[in-house]
Parts: sequence; structure tokens; C-alpha cells
Amino acid sequence: MRLVIFGPPGAGKGTQAQLLRERYKLKHISTGQLFRAAMKADTPLGRSVQSYVSEGRLVPDEVVWDMTRDALEEIEADQFILDGYPRTVNQAELFEQFLKKENKPLSALISLEVSPEVIVERLSRRRVDPETGNTYHLDFNPPPAEVAKEDLIQREDDQPASIRQRIQVYDKETAPVKAFYEERNLLYRIDGEGTIEEVQTGIVEALSAVESSR
Ligand code: AP5
Ligand code: MG
Repeated sequence: MRLVIFGPPGAGKGTQAQLLRERYKLKHISTGQLFRAAMKADTPLGRSVQSYVSEGRLVPDEVVWDMTRDALEEIEADQFILDGYPRTVNQAELFEQFLKKENKPLSALISLEVSPEVIVERLSRRRVDPETGNTYHLDFNPPPAEVAKEDLIQREDDQPASIRQRIQVYDKETAPVKAFYEERNLLYRIDGEGTIEEVQTGIVEALSAVESSR
């Protein structure tokens, strides 16, 4: 399967992608994670995207596409779940041309639908383990006993000003990507407001329809 997981900041893309990766044996490519790793390693790419990511603005399309294409080529554009790309209609077009050239059509774009209130609730209480990169939520997905809460950190872009900026960017530039995939009959809207398990069940049901229609 070749999947995109899509949705506003904090919708649960990373959480669900991780579960889908295990269930379907997919490679998980998260553009946000690739940028954060590059920033941590202080590479030229990391330095060039630092201000965009920390302020919650979109990294320019050419930069993000170069990185995403490399990651896709490395896995021969197969059995993947792409998380955080595409985020503009232009990015969707670049991706489509690439998949066409590779003769590897997309199976589905899964769009997690959540309200702005839920986004704020999820992001403001999200915590990350700096050692493992595992993501938790202080109320809804607490860390296991062996992980000390004091060692967990907040993502730099989970401060209120960056959260507001990310929601605005999503509404203006990213949400229109859904129409692009709807026209191609690849859009699957999933209610993202249930528990992690309920959302996963919704996605798996949608994907079983995708698999049986192929
Ligand atoms: P990115 O890292 O992709 O951030 P994002 O899209 O804002 O999404 P998040 O990672 O914040 O949320 P998520 O949907 O993965 O939710 P999560 O599963 O963690 O991108 C960061 C930045 O990189 C961008 O702002 C931009 O600057 C740049 N960038 C990346 N891609 C780009 C691109 N294509 N073009 C340009 N720039 C790009 O869940 C959130 C919290 O909720 C967690 O605490 C989790 O435990 C909890 N949770 C999850 N599901 C549930 C549930 N069902 N119930 C209760 N709690 C839940
Ligand atoms: Mg994420």
C-alpha cells in the first residue's frame, strides 16, 4: 500500500501512522520528523529550516520535496505511509508526477477530521521523549511507568503562538489539498475525535474497502 496520512496539526497523524506501520508493515516517512532530526544534527538542511519549523510556517515547497523525494526513492516508493506531505496543492502535484513516472499510484489519502478545540487540547499536553522520540499525551496517552515525566519535553512549535500559526497555515494552504485528492477518488475522511483505538478502527475499515476495490 502507498498511503498518505493527512490532517491539521495535532490531529494524530504520527500516532496513527505508527500503528499503521506495524499493522501493514509500512515504512513511515514523516517530513516533520526528518526536519527535527536534521535540526538536532545541525546539518545545513536543519539550519535552513529551523526558523520555519519553530515558528510553525511552511518550509518552501522545493526544499521539502527534495527531501521527501530522496526518502521515497530510498524505499523504491513502495509500502509507505507518508505523514506531513503534501501540505500545498503544488506539493501534491510534484508528488503525483513522481508517482506517475515511477508507475506507483497512491492507494489512499486518509484525512483525520478534528475540530480546533481538540487540536489545542492535544498539542498543549503533548510531550516527547528526547531519547527515543516517542510521543505521549499527559492525559490521553501517558508514558509508561519507566519513563519519568520530568524527562519529557515539549516541542518548540507546541507553544500557543506557534500552534495558532500552524492552524492558520493549515486552513489557508493545506486544507485545499483535500479537494485535489477528492477529484481523484483517493480521499478518505475519518473522524479523528475518538480514542486512539477508535480512530485506528475507522482507518482500518476504510482501508479494507480500498484493498478490496483493487
Ligand atoms: P509536523 O511534525 O508534521 O507537524 P504537524 O502537521 O503540525 O503535526 P503534529 O506532528 O504536530 O501532529 P500529529 O498530527 O502528528 O499528531 P500526534 O500524533 O503527535 O510538521 C512540523 C513542521 O515541519 C511544520 O509546521 C512545518 O514547519 C514543517 N513541515 C513538515 N512537513 C512540511 C511540508 N510538507 N511542507 C512544508 N513544511 C513542512 O498527536 C498529537 C497529540 O495528541 C499527542 O500528544 C498524542 O499522544 C495525542 N493523541 C493522538 N491521537 C489521539 C486521540 N485519538 N485521542 C487523544 N489524544 C490523541
Ligand atoms: Mg506528527
